[in-house]
Amino acid sequence: VPSLSVSVSGPEGPTDDFGAWFEALEARHRQSLTFAEIRRALQALSSLYVERRGRLGAGAALESAGKRAAFALYYGPLHFLLVREIVRAVGAGAHPLARLLDLGCGTGTAGAAWALELEKAPCVEAIDRSGWATSEARWTLRAFGLRGDTSRADLLSVPCPRPPAGYLAAFTVNELDDAGRASLLVRLREAAKGGASVLIVEPISRRIAPWWSAWSAAFRELGGRADEWRFRVPLPETLRLLDRAAGLDHRELRGRSLYVGSRPTPSASATRLM
Ligand SMILES: C[S@@+](CC[C@H](N)C(=O)[O-])C[C@H]1O[C@@H](n2cnc3c(N)ncnc32)[C@H](O)[C@@H]1O
Repeated sequence: VPSLSVSVSGPEGPTDDFGAWFEALEARHRQSLTFAEIRRALQALSSLYVERRGRLGAGAALESAGKRAAFALYYGPLHFLLVREIVRAVGAGAHPLARLLDLGCGTGTAGAAWALELEKAPCVEAIDRSGWATSEARWTLRAFGLRGDTSRADLLSVPCPRPPAGYLAAFTVNELDDAGRASLLVRLREAAKGGASVLIVEPISRRIAPWWSAWSAAFRELGGRADEWRFRVPLPETLRLLDRAAGLDHRELRGRSLYVGSRPTPSASATRLM
């Protein structure tokens, strides 16, 4: 994937108004598609994620305008809400970050959710191999008033930022092949040992993530944690309607996470001891 980097800076500073953002998102995507078209595309998209996962590697999830709109309007907000709850539950907002890497950012909502929980929002670096995703992520960051860069690139090729940094991979690790996943784990482990915070979020499904228990063991070894979650979060009306119309059920948001929080780097702890 050719790498292309673009900077974003929100006009008025961070705002975590999910409702206002969702309204703007809906207006953006319903300009060109009707509710029925988005619902049909959502059914096709969810069947790709559940039954035809083999096609995900070739980018099938984002191949049509309808699927892209369904992804942006349905999964984007759901991932924002779930990641925000997880960040709160594991206390990730308490660890200051200068940069937050959102690996496989999609429309950028998961990274925005974490960034908005910090007292001082970090610069978000949103990386995705899809150019459509990075341009949506730019819109998301701007809408939430966040600073950042978006890069169209393979997430395995991006350089590691200097600490204090956070790494997020939400619903992304299961799209990598075995070799890609193994090399990402090596990099994340090194980053965590160097003081980075790392958060992985995935659906609860043994079938799509047979690697989960090995990754959980690796995170525990680093002093981190592995959790399964269920949250009851009120959804905007359009999300509820899409959920029902597509035969899905997100009255309860579920997911699982791996998290290791930043620790002081060796030089920082040396400074503190003096
Ligand atoms: C299911 S989406 C999740 C998006 C986002 N993290 C969220 O939570 O909504 C997975 C994303 O990972 C991206 N992706 C998968 N493999 C990638 C790779 N090797 N490099 C960069 N992006 C990748 C896909 O393009 C897609 O946007």
